[in-house]
Amino acid sequence: MVAHVCPWWSVPLTIDPPLRRWLHDPRKIVGPYVKPGMTVIDVGCGVGWFAIPMAAMVGEQGKVIAVDLQRQMLDMLRRRAEKAGVADRIETHPCEQRRLGVDAHADFALLFAMLHEVPDPTRLLGEIHDLLNRGGKLLLAEPPLHVSRKALAREVAAAEAVGFQIVEQPRLRWCRAVVLARTEPGRDG
Ligand SMILES: C[S@@+](CC[C@H](N)C(=O)[O-])C[C@H]1O[C@@H](n2cnc3c(N)ncnc32)[C@H](O)[C@@H]1O
Repeated sequence: MVAHVCPWWSVPLTIDPPLRRWLHDPRKIVGPYVKPGMTVIDVGCGVGWFAIPMAAMVGEQGKVIAVDLQRQMLDMLRRRAEKAGVADRIETHPCEQRRLGVDAHADFALLFAMLHEVPDPTRLLGEIHDLLNRGGKLLLAEPPLHVSRKALAREVAAAEAVGFQIVEQPRLRWCRAVVLARTEPGRDG
């Protein structure tokens, strides 16, 4: 495992703390973008802080594709999703560090506290752009302790270089965040 990737064994120390619920309430953060019937992709999903609530939000007709580099994260996510009764709506997908390798059409993508861990952000953003339908949104959120304003601006410039446009800069607790959209025709035509 590369040194700067959040290690899977640290998760039991941080999982589900009330502080995180207050800081990063999934209903407030992704609720405005995720609707019933959507296909959403959570890249660097960890143990499913967002993927599991998003599975409830997309409903029986929707799907969450949960992607992570570390299989242990995906195994924990699956166990938690089973407990929550939404495992049938979540597809887990182990990826490589420089390649997602997902084949899907998505309406929404989430990169939460992960892009700064990626060695080639432009490549990853390009892959996500290719997966989105026209009008599909990407919420990019980074932790302020790890990612300065300037570093986020570099990530946003990389996103714009692959075709994304900024549509919103939400104010989220303990995050630097931006919502980007694919405006040209996507895989859905
Ligand atoms: C800080 S954790 C955040 C997890 C989750 N998004 C959350 O907010 O709870 C970062 C996650 O990104 C994953 N990750 C790091 N580099 C990755 C890459 N190149 N491709 C996919 N996942 C990656 C790590 O394994 C880890 O699960």
